[in-house]
Amino acid sequence: MGESKKQVGVLGLGRMGTALAGALLGAGHDVSVWNRSPLKAGPLLDRGARLAATPAEVGSVDVVLSCLSTYDIQQPVLEAAAPKVLVNLTSGTPEQARGVAKWAASEGIDYVDGVIMAVPQGIGTPAAQVLYSGSETVFAAQRDVLEVLGAPVFLGEDAGLAALYDLALLGMMWSTMAGYLHALALVGTEGVTPAQFAPMASAWQSAVGGFLPGIGEQVASGNYETDVSALDINAAGLALLVETSRAQGISPAVPAALQELFDRTVAAGHGSHAIASVIEEIR
Ligand SMILES: NC(=O)c1ccc[n+]([C@@H]2O[C@H](COP(=O)([O-])OP(=O)(O)OC[C@H]3O[C@@H](n4cnc5c(N)ncnc54)[C@H](OP(=O)(O)O)[C@@H]3O)[C@@H](O)[C@H]2O)c1
Repeated sequence: MGESKKQVGVLGLGRMGTALAGALLGAGHDVSVWNRSPLKAGPLLDRGARLAATPAEVGSVDVVLSCLSTYDIQQPVLEAAAPKVLVNLTSGTPEQARGVAKWAASEGIDYVDGVIMAVPQGIGTPAAQVLYSGSETVFAAQRDVLEVLGAPVFLGEDAGLAALYDLALLGMMWSTMAGYLHALALVGTEGVTPAQFAPMASAWQSAVGGFLPGIGEQVASGNYETDVSALDINAAGLALLVETSRAQGISPAVPAALQELFDRTVAAGHGSHAIASVIEEIR
């Protein structure tokens, strides 16, 4: 790696921390790791990582990546590590991220917050997006290390932004997964297997993904006129789904949550508008 080789510390060797440390080793960086359960470091040590007995032993490296379960668990570890440069990859709320940024500033620690939009198996591939916010100077200085993990995207100087994007994107994922599970349960009442349903579900999911830019434009402009599909027709369809779910003996909880929202939006006068108008009730 020559000049670009850095000393990198990784705090936390769960599923994700292990993947991060593995990618950094693969890129030729000098990696020190710490984990509450040190036995998990075994495969990484075989690949040349150094095991730190305490977080403080990691802290003196060029840059420390932290990836622990929660912020509450992370904070005492960070305090013990006292890094010079910290990239916080633990998931939390925007307020928690801003809190760590404030603490880091008070300790003279260079800080950037990051969220990983990938599973551990995707780390080190361009498909792994990692979103960052906080100090752009720190982000730029550590870009060589961050690029090893996945495609880095800098969002802005507010340290809470990455966590906000994370939760917004995860919300989409959870809604999609819940919708898919509801669909599988519904067709399953008539003996349709996931393998039979999956091809239609995947094709439909791709088509729905194509609607997102148009919805975004309508939300941005506040113009909900449509010649495609009006909300009242969709609300009626949703009622059919809730009714059929009950009739087939499964819980209508997933569509019922949307039904209440769609009905409220129709009642507020958006029946002839596009589905994008539902954002008025969400807000
Ligand atoms: N996995 C994913 O797909 C994924 C994707 C994006 C973001 N993330 C985020 O990455 C972070 C880590 O996730 P993960 O999947 O790696 O979780 P994980 O496999 O459950 O690992 C949790 C880590 O936290 C440590 N830990 C837990 N309780 C602790 C305590 N009381 N004191 C000290 N250390 C403690 C664990 O140490 P031990 O090994 O000693 O238990 C381990 O290093 C989370 O914030 C998660 O939201 C994960």
